[in-house]
Amino acid sequence: MMLEGKRILLGVTGSIAAYKAAYLVRELVRAGADVRVLLSPGAREFVTPLTFSTLSKHPVVSDFTSDREAGIWNNHVDMALWADLMLIAPLSANTLAKMAAAQSDNLLLATYMSVRCPVMVAPAMDHDMYMHPGTRANLDILRSYGHTILEPAEGELASGLYGKGRMGEPEDIFRAVVDHFHPRLPLRGMQALVTAGPTFERLDPVRFIGNFSTGKMGFALARSLADAGAEVQLVTGPVQLTMSHPLVQVTRVESALEMLQAVQSHAQAQIMVFAAAVADYRPAKRAEVKMKRSADDLNLQLVPNPDIAATMGASRQPGQVLVGFALETDGGEEQARAKLERKNLDLVVLNSLQEEGAGFGGDTNKITLFWRDNRSASFGLKPKSAVAQDIVNEIVKLLPA
Ligand code: C5P
Repeated sequence: MMLEGKRILLGVTGSIAAYKAAYLVRELVRAGADVRVLLSPGAREFVTPLTFSTLSKHPVVSDFTSDREAGIWNNHVDMALWADLMLIAPLSANTLAKMAAAQSDNLLLATYMSVRCPVMVAPAMDHDMYMHPGTRANLDILRSYGHTILEPAEGELASGLYGKGRMGEPEDIFRAVVDHFHPRLPLRGMQALVTAGPTFERLDPVRFIGNFSTGKMGFALARSLADAGAEVQLVTGPVQLTMSHPLVQVTRVESALEMLQAVQSHAQAQIMVFAAAVADYRPAKRAEVKMKRSADDLNLQLVPNPDIAATMGASRQPGQVLVGFALETDGGEEQARAKLERKNLDLVVLNSLQEEGAGFGGDTNKITLFWRDNRSASFGLKPKSAVAQDIVNEIVKLLPA
């Protein structure tokens, strides 16, 4: 996980954007970070500690004491020294001014004054407050301390006005945090597309032609690409799997035609991996009502489906890297090489159904890679996550420098 073991102190201050910090906590925790949330007194007007303690799985503090009677003091110095990163999102004009003036009249500020780790802030305020020379000067002071300012976005503001001052979206702040910890992720800022799973081709309202693909390999690839920093569109046919990764967006489709349409809407992706087991044929016509049993033979007429990989290969853009799969029961190597050419791909991943532990359904795979320059390389039997990592390493090498 991208933020495994990273200790993040999140300060939330009094701005309507405080609700967005809840999404941010969820994403950070999902990515493996240990998140402790501090609320400024103003933040509690907008959000409750319960929201954040539930999402961060830790108590949320906002006062110097948690229990005045029992004399329990929240040690801001311990908290400050614990953190690998302090993130203040949203940062209100008021807390900004206090930070710039080195004031410490609440727990969030006292903790801020005590941290030794890097500080990132995401200002959020009304346009005119943001444009005020005092605010500009305060932001300059924070910049001069080496703090990272995540610039607010332009857009509609809670006041009804339009302008700059909206806090950046949680996904963008999340990405900035990942960039901070992993400035050299190889696929940072790139877009990738992965197809996964089977397709179902309907015969009538209750029946379909399908296959045994579970989507595991495609899902593992999507996760590896995202862990390498790419923003991934995962287009999957009907599978049981779920995906929760802040950099992966899932589109669920049923048939090959739907999959093609979804893929074409992401044609700009620099990386495309076709791991879906797309049905080669679909019924020529789909019955509107359930087909009835009869004593006669039944002949189904099938028509070919579009080849999604070949379609994208034919219209490929310079600099794109296209990867396909070949799942063969016989003549694997020849088939794999033919697919490279025919579909205009850069890399084909062959998994042979004859190999024990390879192919559909299982958690392991054993692959051979084929490149356009006639090279090939065989890998050992590994978990699908490790196989995905091997493939992503090769994709990185194929990208233009
Ligand atoms: O030709 P074959 O089906 O064996 O090729 C397999 C490769 O092509 C896989 O990468 C698969 O995802 C892709 N493919 C596709 N659309 C199809 C058939 C296969 O994208 N209709």
